[in-house]
Amino acid sequence: MKHQTPQQAGPASTKGLHIISLEKRFGQRVLWSQLSVSIRPSEMVAITGPSGSGKSTLLNCIGLLEEPSAGSIEVDGKTITHMGAHRSRLFRRNRLGYLFQDYALIDEANIEDNLTVAMQATQRSKRKHLIGQALERVGLEGRQKEPIYQLSGGEQQRVALARLLVKKPNIILADEPTGALDSANAQMVIDSLRAMAKTGGHCPHRHPRRQHCTSLR
Ligand SMILES: Nc1ncnc2c1ncn2[C@@H]1O[C@H](COP(=O)(O)OP(=O)(O)OP(=O)(O)O)[C@@H](O)[C@H]1O
Ligand SMILES: [Mg+2]
Repeated sequence: MKHQTPQQAGPASTKGLHIISLEKRFGQRVLWSQLSVSIRPSEMVAITGPSGSGKSTLLNCIGLLEEPSAGSIEVDGKTITHMGAHRSRLFRRNRLGYLFQDYALIDEANIEDNLTVAMQATQRSKRKHLIGQALERVGLEGRQKEPIYQLSGGEQQRVALARLLVKKPNIILADEPTGALDSANAQMVIDSLRAMAKTGGHCPHRHPRRQHCTSLR
């Protein structure tokens, strides 16, 4: 696998997300190897490549849902790979936000409850106000009490985006985040991701309107 790097991993700055000589194989099959990418704070990076080249697998490795076969991933100078179950869970809960194509929402619960799940670190008294603001931002104003299963695919994706807006994670992993959306809503998602990246997150995702591109092929 070849790859391009927005900025080669190196000691210049430990701030940010650093993927260092990462390899993933399934049995004999090597998806990618010697993959090194550094993503600086506030940077938004797109991962491109043909179907099956390992884009989702790379996001899953960064999200600690899968173990790489070799190499390591560092965030702000700390190695996050091979951390053990407890610390991995804390890292996912406190620092990571996901925007995946299947939304990962609780179907039977309503919009408000789905957002509240992501707000464990937020004072209770502030939650309703922040939820209202986030829903307004994604065009779902006043729809707190609607159950997820009644929403269209695009509306569900916008709830998933609102969940990121209320959680404010340091790192956002987005896998085809605009797949189910029309162009206006797709633009809204990209603009929101960009705004979140500017205010402090690192944001590797897969989308053609990219600032930088890491390519798996
Ligand atoms: N647990 C697993 N065991 C074996 N092979 C796997 C496993 N998970 C993923 N793969 C294989 O790894 C390859 C990369 O999968 P991945 O989902 O990362 O691709 P992708 O680049 O995201 O593709 P797409 O653009 O279609 O979403 C695929 O061929 C897939 O079948
Ligand atoms: Mg994929």
